[in-house]
Amino acid sequence: MTAVTTQPRVTEVTHPLVQHKLSYLRDKSTPTVHFRKLVNELTLLLTYEATKEFPTEDVAIETPLERMTAQRISGKKVAVCPVLRAGMGMLDGVLSLVSSARVGFIGLYRDEETLQPVEYYVKLPEDLSERDAIVLDPMLATGNSSAAAIASVKAAGARSVTLVCLVAAPPGIERIHGEHPDVHVVCAAIDRGLDERGYIVPGLGDAGDRLYGTR
Ligand code: URA
Repeated sequence: MTAVTTQPRVTEVTHPLVQHKLSYLRDKSTPTVHFRKLVNELTLLLTYEATKEFPTEDVAIETPLERMTAQRISGKKVAVCPVLRAGMGMLDGVLSLVSSARVGFIGLYRDEETLQPVEYYVKLPEDLSERDAIVLDPMLATGNSSAAAIASVKAAGARSVTLVCLVAAPPGIERIHGEHPDVHVVCAAIDRGLDERGYIVPGLGDAGDRLYGTR
């Protein structure tokens, strides 16, 4: 898939399908029902990119025509951890490709005055130390909530962490790489910056409100 990866690891997926769907997601006239479907489809495409280095092993199989050696993903255990609530909109997109994944939930909300994350619920798989975590947070803005979510997942022992988001802003990327330089960030776009309220510009607005029709 078309993608640009820079060091520390940030992959901006520039594939035409991703950019096409993202343009509708950004459009303020896109209704909730389409927004939700687009988030699901985009996450699926981003997951394709986020998992492209999963190790594979040879397996002997038989096609209807002959024996052959095929490739299967080897010994990879995944935990998908959406940051509530907007990250939930991305969950099915990952699970439709990585169906054996366990799911952990990280409840954080952003205090609109301090912009700091407040943790209100964390429930992670017990065997997280045997798993690679994919954290889902659609908007990497200040990076406060994603950094806190990554810290929770690491504290619970995750073997590695990949952060999948829809739109990232430079301050959020800097924050993640300052605090968690080992984390691979995969996104559909890196936008210009943040406005005075901490929203990504041009962005797509409040991802949770647009997913769930709240305001
Ligand atoms: N959260 C959102 O939903 N949108 C932004 O632009 C920033 C944080």
